Amino acid sequence: MLKKLFFNWKMNPTSPNEASSLFAEFVSLAQSQPQISLVVLPPYVYLSELNQQLQTFGVTNLKLGAQDLARHSAGAYTGQISGQMLKNMGCQYVLIGHSETREAYQLSHEQINQKLLQSLESGLVPILCVGHQSDKTITEINYPELSEQVTTALQNLPPEFKTEFYLAYEPVWAIGTGKTATNSIIEEVSQFLKQELAKLGLAKQVGILYGGSVDDVSIQELVKLQQVDGFLIGGASLKPEKFKTIAQVVANQV
Ligand code: PGA
Repeated sequence: MLKKLFFNWKMNPTSPNEASSLFAEFVSLAQSQPQISLVVLPPYVYLSELNQQLQTFGVTNLKLGAQDLARHSAGAYTGQISGQMLKNMGCQYVLIGHSETREAYQLSHEQINQKLLQSLESGLVPILCVGHQSDKTITEINYPELSEQVTTALQNLPPEFKTEFYLAYEPVWAIGTGKTATNSIIEEVSQFLKQELAKLGLAKQVGILYGGSVDDVSIQELVKLQQVDGFLIGGASLKPEKFKTIAQVVANQV
């Protein structure tokens, strides 16, 4: 199956016009590569307008997602955005526990778990990000930490939980640094994550993603990964020439 591509715009771009022009590039990419599934994760404030843009063009292989959601469904939580609000804005996906979000809000495992449960309750497909926060180099893999991140986030799931969801492996040292993990490390970690998911009875519906400096150059090697179902792309998602090359390389890998 072709690898799915998730584009995290982070806190970019600065204006609605720029957001709309950038999104138009994704629409044209989706139209020219109908076999590839694309998900764009813009800042909250652009969701409504981009959803309208999406409806106008009627492309079915491009979807919207959000970069975070509140731990609660409604109420006195100033500054927070609920899963249901996101759903009503046309979102189908939501990132949970991105390392930048974990760091900015000092999120506990319990809080990540609450966000995950909220995403399911609202009918959003979660993309749970995990990565070894404590490791500083390419060769160290902190398996106990990865295991803890996965098992604590996936506690108390509803028994009927059968929906698709994604687990994104993002080593913190690889995010925005231009350094990617080697394919052998990514395969090894993906295998480990699948075993952890199997212990929780969740192996079947989970897609494994890799994120961390995926760009038009690193994709040439990363696309060969067998255990990985897609990529989470940050910086390169703001550069049309880069994300179009990424999509082309993925499309060629049939
Ligand atoms: P990057 O970001 O592609 O810029 O490394 C990835 C991410 O933060 O999800």
